[in-house]
Amino acid sequence: MSQPSANIPEQYILETVEISRYFGAVAAVDGLSISIPRQGVTSIVGPNGSGKSTLINLLSGTLPLDGGMVKIDGLGLTTIHAYETPDHSITRTFQEVRLFDQISVLDNILVVLTTRRLWPSIFERTSREHREKAREILEKVGMWDKRSSLAMDLSYGQRKLLEIGRAMALNVNIYLLDEPFAGLFPQMLERVKDILKGMRDEGRTIIFVSHNMDIVREMADHLIVMDGGKLLLAGEVEDVLNQPEVISAYLGA
Ligand SMILES: Nc1ncnc2c1ncn2[C@@H]1O[C@H](COP(=O)(O)OP(=O)(O)OP(=O)(O)O)[C@@H](O)[C@H]1O
Ligand SMILES: [Mg+2]
Repeated sequence: MSQPSANIPEQYILETVEISRYFGAVAAVDGLSISIPRQGVTSIVGPNGSGKSTLINLLSGTLPLDGGMVKIDGLGLTTIHAYETPDHSITRTFQEVRLFDQISVLDNILVVLTTRRLWPSIFERTSREHREKAREILEKVGMWDKRSSLAMDLSYGQRKLLEIGRAMALNVNIYLLDEPFAGLFPQMLERVKDILKGMRDEGRTIIFVSHNMDIVREMADHLIVMDGGKLLLAGEVEDVLNQPEVISAYLGA
């Protein structure tokens, strides 16, 4: 079998081959095979409980696979460890934001830029380079003014921005974002859109889960529709959204 040339990147940066994850009798992700193009933004949609977050958890090593394989840039893996995902150029954000609540906004970024572990990073002397990078990221997500606030004192939208900033600090190619727009006021929503567009324009692969079809239409190039842990449809956004079964059964639009 011929191997792809090392000089020609594969069209799909992330693929799953019949991956599954069970919770007791519930097949949260059920023999799912999908392909995510390297170029552009991919959105994952589907009703509540259709397995979107579980898929993100599997791709990011947050949950172990019960079966199947994930191919990251052509590399097939049946086990993904969360701590290794930056080495595979993957990071993620959570539907329920996860931060280090007891430290400042700035330190939340510096932790990622330095050791990625909380206690060593507090004692590590951060370099000028780290501090400049942290400033650049916090300015990009509009949180520089809040740099001295404790993460726990931030508003919901600010917490989401800081979590995206932490993901940006890892400087990887593939970003898995679980509902980055959910619960945001319009101004914050526009800011997150701009941040993601900026990341896309830098050539990064953005994959986001959303229930908001207006945002999906505006932001995504490719669409994956899940139902009951399985793939319902996948393709270019407009093609998929024009399928009658999607319009009537799942999107109500
Ligand atoms: N940790 C868990 N323990 C038990 N069941 C779970 C767990 N996580 C998910 N499930 C179940 O797996 C199925 C898929 O859940 P998942 O959270 O992946 O759906 P989702 O598409 O992200 O939903 P939502 O749109 O509400 O966020 C659901 O039936 C859910 O109840
Ligand atoms: Mg979810």
